Amino acid sequence: MNQIKSKLFSGLMLLNFMVVAVSCQRGPQDPGTEFMPDMYRSPSYETYAPNALFADSSSARLPVAGTIPRDYTFFHYPPSNDGYAAAGNDLKNPFEANATNTAEGKRLYTNFCMHCHGETGGGDGSLIATGKFPPPPAYATGVSSRGGNMRDLTDGKIFHTITYGVNLMGAHASQLNHEERWKIVMYVHQLGKAGGAINTAASDSTGAPKDSTVALK
Ligand code: HEC
Repeated sequence: MNQIKSKLFSGLMLLNFMVVAVSCQRGPQDPGTEFMPDMYRSPSYETYAPNALFADSSSARLPVAGTIPRDYTFFHYPPSNDGYAAAGNDLKNPFEANATNTAEGKRLYTNFCMHCHGETGGGDGSLIATGKFPPPPAYATGVSSRGGNMRDLTDGKIFHTITYGVNLMGAHASQLNHEERWKIVMYVHQLGKAGGAINTAASDSTGAPKDSTVALK
């Protein structure tokens, strides 16, 4: 009886060994034999995997032409001098010029504009300091290439400029949404008024005015 048991046992051990040996032969990505796989594995494509379904063989698809992102705000002024002048006449900053909004404008300005326009808007950012690019006109003392003094630029003109860019300055509409652009407009006005020297006594540590009712325009 014992002999039969031990033979049965070694037989099972051998079978076990064979199963283990066989199941180790496939690659680590191979699920092996599955009992009723049904929907275990999703048939979706990896983002950058090749794809035979499309002519350009790319799995990463572009949005359908004409797609509008959620919360997108249209800007109906064309990227031309006429559009610039019309936006300059029509538009007023829809956001309240309070300390919170201006502080956010300063934060965005620091990230997106300062390397060219400089910390105080003097046209002396780190990129300009390399000497490879001509300086943009200073917000407080410069003259716009489209006429008039920089400090007199209206809300709409600045918004149009941030949206489309001008000459050496690129468009920023893809990096900054509508609200962010308006908040930067607020801070540009503040720099224009400060004459290149923000009065730190009248500002908190972020450079925003302490008095939240202060009019920036
Ligand atoms: C790559 C450098 C660069 C960056 C980044 C940049 N600018 Fe400019 N900006 C310029 C230059 C150069 C000009 C002058 C262009 C001209 O009139 O020929 C200019 C002009 C302007 C003007 C004057 C437009 C007018 O009507 O004359 C404003 C306002 C302005 N920039 C705001 C901004 C703001 C706000 C940002 C950040 C969102 C920004 N710029 C980012 C280089 C830059």
